[in-house]
This record gives sequence, structure tokens and C-alpha cells, in this order.
Amino acid sequence: MSADRPKVVITGRVPQPAVDVLTEHADVWMNTDDQMSRAELLTAVAGADAILSLLTASVDAELLHAAGPQLRVVSNVAVGYNNIDVPACKAAGVIATNTPGVLTDATADIAMALVLMATRGLGASERAVRSGTPWKWGMFEFLGAGIQGSRLGIIGMGQIGVALARRAKAHGMTIAYANRSDADSNIVAELGAVRVSIDELLRTSDVVSLHCPYGPQTHHLIDADALANMKPTAFLINTARGPVVDEAALVTALKSGRIAGAGLDVYEREPELAAGLIDLENVVLLPHVGSATIETRTAMATLAARNAVAVLNGQPAITPIT
Ligand code: GLV
Repeated sequence: MSADRPKVVITGRVPQPAVDVLTEHADVWMNTDDQMSRAELLTAVAGADAILSLLTASVDAELLHAAGPQLRVVSNVAVGYNNIDVPACKAAGVIATNTPGVLTDATADIAMALVLMATRGLGASERAVRSGTPWKWGMFEFLGAGIQGSRLGIIGMGQIGVALARRAKAHGMTIAYANRSDADSNIVAELGAVRVSIDELLRTSDVVSLHCPYGPQTHHLIDADALANMKPTAFLINTARGPVVDEAALVTALKSGRIAGAGLDVYEREPELAAGLIDLENVVLLPHVGSATIETRTAMATLAARNAVAVLNGQPAITPIT
């Protein structure tokens, strides 16, 4: 470590091109131990001028304090930033950044994959073949629901919501969305999308897909009441953050047939699943892989590194959390 070069701590392994961006400007320490404890992380960040945080690291007042007063930037390698206490960063004079844009297509692809998998029951079909039990083509075997002409309700019409809407439109779906504000008028015209209340969206959609950020306002946005509002033939897709959904209530709704099915990439207490979820045939379960392509993860980590370097060089962050 050199005295005049800033110190960057990366909380978990990231692709080498991002490390290279940082190494040009700073001394870099990257955690390579997947099992690193919180206490060890608190020790590791001491003296850092910048922290590149994976979404599994909780960046709160305790961690900022452990880093020390020289810390200038926390650069999250994710678009979601519910792992970062943004007010605590502001109070400590630390810039926080995230990685919007670069994971839009990869995440929208996974959301569309979940729409198709859930509506066609592909998880159960795949398990049936894989289990080795005899099967044959049958007029009434492995039937799912077609999506052509059905309504997709998107909660949170940001970049990923719009990218999913484009994919869904290509599959013949019509688009409704609920958002704090109107989506861009060109996009609305292109998609023929209608803005409705969350209540109406839940009542009228055949597939509901979540793309809102997670925070106190969206905690358990989809609870037992919201699920009771959905059509019994409808499907719920979550590629946003687990706690947007009350997972125990979802298990009850899926078990009782209150809704037809679900496709989940995120969970309330990752990597744990709510009791009973794993036993249900009408839910597709993915291990938080929305952004999991080599290209996307490299782009995310590189953008995070460039954010850190910008702040360390006294320039504005490229994608600050505002
Ligand atoms: C992934 O979940 C992200 O927020 O980038």
C-alpha cells in the first residue's frame, strides 16, 4: 500500500476489468472469502477511501464508522440499493452510487423468462421429465395459460419495467402500469400502455410483475390483501426485491389457488425461502440471477469502479444515488 494512493475495499469478488480500472488509481483490497463475517468486514474497511459494495453487504452507519472519516464514496455494484443506508451516507458526507442502465436488458430477460415459465408451468414440466417418471404427449398433459392478448401489469415503470413491457408486447400482451408518475409519452405511445392505480392493476392483470425499488413504502406492497385483489387465474412475477412481497402470504395464496402461480428471482430472506414455498408446483424459483450474465456483471462492476474513481479524483459521480 502506498501512502499517497487512495485505498479501495471491494466487499466481494468482482470481474477483473473493474479491478483494473481501480488499480490504475488506487490500492485495491478485494475480499475473496465468500464466508467473510460481518466483524471481519468491519475490520477490512478500516481506512478505506472508497468501498465497492456487493448487494450482500449491509452499508450502514456502523460500517461507515468502521471505515473512518476519510471515506468518500460507497459504490454499489447493483441498481437496487436497499443494502445502503443512504441518509447515513449523506450524514457522513459520503457519496453513494449505484449501477442503473447496464443491467436493464439482462433483468428484463429474466422477468420475461419467468412470465413464460410461470404461465406455461415449465418448472413443473421440467421436473416431471427430469424425475424419470414416464410421460408421453397428451392432449391434456402439461397445459399452461397462453399469454397472447392477456394483460401484463407492471408495478414500477422504470428502465427495467419498460424493457419488460417491450418484450411482453412482442409476445402479444397488452400493458398496464402503476407508477408514481407518468412514463415518457413516447414510450407510452410505442407500447400502448395505460397508467392505472395499483388497485386496478391488481384486479385486472393476468400477470403482475414487480419492478419498483424496495424501501419502507414498498415493504409488503404485495400482501394478503393485494393477493386477494388479483384474479384467481393471475400470476405474480418478482425480479425486484424479495420483501416487496409478503412471502408467507404468497405461499398461502399459491397453496389455496387464490392466484394461479408465481415466478420469483428474489426472496424476503435470501437465500432462505418461506416455509412451504419449495413444495409448491405452481411457483418457479430462481436464485437471484436477474443480472447474471458475464457481460452484465462486468459492466456493473466496471461502472461501480468508474463511479469510485470519479469521486476519488474530485469529479462528480457518474450515477449517484439521489
Ligand atoms: C440486482 O438485484 C441489482 O439490484 O442490481
